[in-house]
Amino acid sequence: MSKKTKLGILASGSGTNLQAIIDACESGEVFAEVVLVVSNVSDAYALERAKKHGIKSIFIDKNNFESREDYDKELISILRDNQVNLVVLAGYMLLVGPELVRAFEGKIMNIHPSLLPSFPGTHGVKDALNYGVKISGVTVHFVDKGLDTGPIILQEAVPVMENDTIEILHNRIHEAEHRIYPAAIKVFAEGRLKIEGRRVRILEKGEL
Ligand code: GRF
Repeated sequence: MSKKTKLGILASGSGTNLQAIIDACESGEVFAEVVLVVSNVSDAYALERAKKHGIKSIFIDKNNFESREDYDKELISILRDNQVNLVVLAGYMLLVGPELVRAFEGKIMNIHPSLLPSFPGTHGVKDALNYGVKISGVTVHFVDKGLDTGPIILQEAVPVMENDTIEILHNRIHEAEHRIYPAAIKVFAEGRLKIEGRRVRILEKGEL
């Protein structure tokens, strides 16, 4: 029997995606375990969620570091010390520096609340709504050095309704996020993701 994939989650906010991932791991749907939750925000609810499940939770204060590089170095060593196999960004509001990307190449995932490459950046939901799109959605992608530019793993379309506000649309998007983030982690944990340039192939079990 192979070992469970060890997930290190980085989160800055409420952590509903973290919760969906924890639940999928605990139910056995995803053959992985969350070994660590790190936040750059001291009172992020994501840290509470981790504690409730007996998961190690760490707050790292950016102000204690002279530079972003130093902050990322600390992050890398914590992730390595905990033998993390996959770094999962779940509402992590800091840019991931090049050193971290290099240290975990092809092993960092992010979720973004729009259909990339449309509407990258911090306000994906608002930007899509203001643009007037009729269909938005969710993207799970590998992280590279750019902002929301890495190879796409899974996407799900989410319709924009006539009377949507940012909040209503974001709630609908969250529902899709809670489906596809665990699904993306599941195929990673099964060793079924192959990055070929910009494309990510999801191998059939028979192709392994
Ligand atoms: C999600 O909408 C995700 O797409 C974005 O940040 C939000 C995090 O939500 N990157 P939560 O903290 O997981 O509830």
